[in-house]
Amino acid sequence: MNIAKILVTAEEIDARLVEMGAQITADYAGESPILVGVLKGAFMVMADLARNIDLPVEMDFMAVSSYGDSTKSSGVVRILKDLDSEIEDRHVILVEDIIDSGLTLDYLIDNLTVRRPASLELAAVLMKEGLQQVPLEVKYAGFSIPPDFVVGYGLDHFGRLRNLPYVAVLDEHALS
Ligand code: IMP
Ligand code: MG
Repeated sequence: MNIAKILVTAEEIDARLVEMGAQITADYAGESPILVGVLKGAFMVMADLARNIDLPVEMDFMAVSSYGDSTKSSGVVRILKDLDSEIEDRHVILVEDIIDSGLTLDYLIDNLTVRRPASLELAAVLMKEGLQQVPLEVKYAGFSIPPDFVVGYGLDHFGRLRNLPYVAVLDEHALS
């Protein structure tokens, strides 16, 4: 299947999401935050993270696509599916699979801030070390990983491998 190396195991992801869920549960006690997942990659973390949050959360999704080539973010984002819900005066947690350049999230933060949420925080499973082009404060962060192209746990290579329960590096032949 062209997997060179497993970077984060399913067990490690499970354990970290339990911690992140507990942290969110404590931070938002008495509130009902809206989790906003960025499709498609965030579908898996949304399902797993939500099950670890002991609050009446709502869930909504946005689908975005970057202009330009598929392996590098241009920072210019096209919204393919907007939120169904209004977020004015609501506590919003934006949930991403991975932060690479950070340009996608930077755009989404600006886009959502205009709608005047009560608060807006970021949750991400993976952050690539040394690649962020914009400073992002990720309150709920999973794992820092080297700046390689990874697949699994929601992340794809040409639409496939999202269903792997772990995060893995592809071998070079698969990428060329
Ligand atoms: P950014 O705008 O550069 O932070 O890119 C974020 C988006 O690019 C993520 O939401 C992913 O969809 C995609 N992406 C970034 N790195 C990878 C990777 O290593 N594998 C698969 N998709 C990735
Ligand atoms: Mg994504």
